[in-house]
Amino acid sequence: VGHIDDVQELRKARPTSIPERFVRDMAERPKHAATLVSASDIPIIDLCKLMKRDKDEHQSEAMQLKTACEEWGFFQVVNHGIDLSVLENIEKVAKDFFMLPLEEKKKYPMAPGTVQGYGQAFVFSENQKLDWCNMFALGVEPPCIRNPKLWPSKPADFRETLEVYSREIRKLCENLLKNIAVSLGLKGDVFEEMFGVAVQAVRMNYYPPCSRPDLVLGLSPHSDGSALTVLQQVKDSSVGLQILKGNTWVPVQPVPNALVINIGDTIEVLTNGKYKSVEHRAVTHKERDRLSIVTFYAPSYEIELGPMPELVDEKNPCRYRRYNHGEYSKHYVTNKLQGKRALDFAK
Ligand code: SIN
Ligand code: FE2
Repeated sequence: VGHIDDVQELRKARPTSIPERFVRDMAERPKHAATLVSASDIPIIDLCKLMKRDKDEHQSEAMQLKTACEEWGFFQVVNHGIDLSVLENIEKVAKDFFMLPLEEKKKYPMAPGTVQGYGQAFVFSENQKLDWCNMFALGVEPPCIRNPKLWPSKPADFRETLEVYSREIRKLCENLLKNIAVSLGLKGDVFEEMFGVAVQAVRMNYYPPCSRPDLVLGLSPHSDGSALTVLQQVKDSSVGLQILKGNTWVPVQPVPNALVINIGDTIEVLTNGKYKSVEHRAVTHKERDRLSIVTFYAPSYEIELGPMPELVDEKNPCRYRRYNHGEYSKHYVTNKLQGKRALDFAK
């Protein structure tokens, strides 16, 4: 990413017009109509209720989880049991990192075709439109996927904070996947058994304000290549995340202290499309910046995946082939974000 493609630097320079590389073709531009849809429709799952021994309370929450996965592919989880300070601390170090001078951040450059380091991922051609976003991404678990050279020394508590955060998010993912398995009528530990040592990566997205939010996208439409994604929307930030429901982009209103969960491509394939990996994008705001912290939780790279036999029958014929998850990941990160196109790999 050249100096001029770094959106924070661009924002500081305040050019009179948005550089052409960020200006979307008409069909891709955010339409204001999308934001008129009520955000309260995105299901909220109370993890505390889901964990209750009390049958009725548990049952009704479990039903909601099932509906959320079938009809939305997205939900927000409250009472997730993660200490507020853990969420606040990661917000703080992420923000501190993005506020460092460009020269400092450039010590951790994202190599082309990878999603680790600072820069813009998923850019493969000169004429590809750029997202109005700076990213900082790191592989976290298992430790063998870490690139220690990319773990920043500033802010000083970044590494420790990310490790603590990742441990908590991992427990949450394990817990949610158990409940998701049960909601499918499967044994609670099917995913855990199938995934091996799960891979966990984090991506921090910083969206500076943009003078023409109507012309640009913060993040191109895509579905996630993970099994499950956990997204933390920073408090007081503008509404930016939108999910595609039918033909409408529905904004995801930040709920204080909640985490946004979405089903990724892996679960779509494993469930033979019963639970969908839903397309989403981010838009920008004229005056406000936005920070999101995203964790991708996925199977170990050597795992072979395909629709689970329990979810394939005459009414639901097999929709995906079997493939190696490492190859899928590679395919995902070496192509531009383009709706659900990455899943064509599995067809
Ligand atoms: C993402 O899809 O990775 C992030 C979207 C967001 O910033 O809300
Ligand atoms: Fe995403």
